[in-house]
Amino acid sequence: MSHFSFETQHTDGHARAGVFHTPHGPVETPQFMPVGTLASVKSLDPEDLSRLGATMVLANAYHLRLRPGDELVRTMGGLHQFMQWSGPMLTDSGGFQVFSLEGLRTIQEEGVEFRSHLDGSLQQFTPESVMRIERNLGADVIMQFDHVVPGQSPHDLAKVAMERSIRWLDRCRIAFDELQATDLSAPTPVQALFPIVQGGIHADLRRASAQAIRNAGDWVGYGIGGLSVGEAKPDMYAMLDVVNEELPTDRPRYLMGVGFPEDLVEGVARGVDVFDCVAPTRMGRTGAFFTSTGRRSIKNAQWRTDPEPLEVGCTCAACTRFSKAYIRHLFVAEEILGLRLLSLHNVHFLVALMRDARAAVQAGTFEGWSRDWLARYHSRKT
Ligand code: GUN
Ligand code: ZN
Repeated sequence: MSHFSFETQHTDGHARAGVFHTPHGPVETPQFMPVGTLASVKSLDPEDLSRLGATMVLANAYHLRLRPGDELVRTMGGLHQFMQWSGPMLTDSGGFQVFSLEGLRTIQEEGVEFRSHLDGSLQQFTPESVMRIERNLGADVIMQFDHVVPGQSPHDLAKVAMERSIRWLDRCRIAFDELQATDLSAPTPVQALFPIVQGGIHADLRRASAQAIRNAGDWVGYGIGGLSVGEAKPDMYAMLDVVNEELPTDRPRYLMGVGFPEDLVEGVARGVDVFDCVAPTRMGRTGAFFTSTGRRSIKNAQWRTDPEPLEVGCTCAACTRFSKAYIRHLFVAEEILGLRLLSLHNVHFLVALMRDARAAVQAGTFEGWSRDWLARYHSRKT
């Protein structure tokens, strides 16, 4: 437990500025984690990530189990060594991925059987097997195996999944404690297991989930899952209000799979400390980029002769050197440097956004800062 700690240095309304200490170093919060599903943040080298200020990255147990296999990663010294990222790292459990394999999976109390999306082979994930996989991978923070349902799920379905997630949390914890006590040669001997609050868009279920998790133990940090999965944004924000009332204030809160810039700002306002999302890299590959006045597409003909960077004043490795005209040309010509430069900019944008939010919390100006930021972001119509 002493390998992990969280200090909240400032609060401003519900927003917090803190430091989360892990075996691979500190994470200043609020923080955005770039997603390296397959042990690679698509098109970005770990050096790019450190240079743009990212401090913690995420990888996925589901994908790495199937390819190249968690045992192979362990043989190669664990994820940190394998992908050459020496900073803090988190693995997601695969709960989310397994449940999105509509039609290809069977859910039982024991676990989930599914067919690999790669070769169709039959696989089984249980709370116990996922703890073993995440042990082998060796991230600092590992997520519980949970049951995720779509954002619009009715109360009865959301309740079943939430209650199952609580039972699976118990099994995860038993397996996790056992591994931590016996498997001492694992790549990261001391890890932290995060539970995941579920409950769909139903306030009573969210409250019950958070309370059951709290009653089940003193956790290093808390995941909030099952959001940004098809529900309306006001529903997501309402759930964050509920959950953040129930979670202990002296532990980090990680909102899973969220999100877009406005969601990050709204999340911080509701007490969230850590975020992750594939959006910046996925959008970068399709030509979309974030600016402080909203999202744009680099493919737009209006940039054909535009000498300005993606965003004036941005300090990222794309904006400090290249024009929109050049990056547009790269996209039109299908040069892979184009998607790399947009990914760099987009990840930098979210990391820098959280750095700015943190500074505003520290200065006690978060409310005004966030209001102005959101108004500007939503202002443009081009
Ligand atoms: N990623 C985004 N949402 C979720 C969730 O609810 N559970 C898990 N395990 N991962 C997620
Ligand atoms: Zn930039």
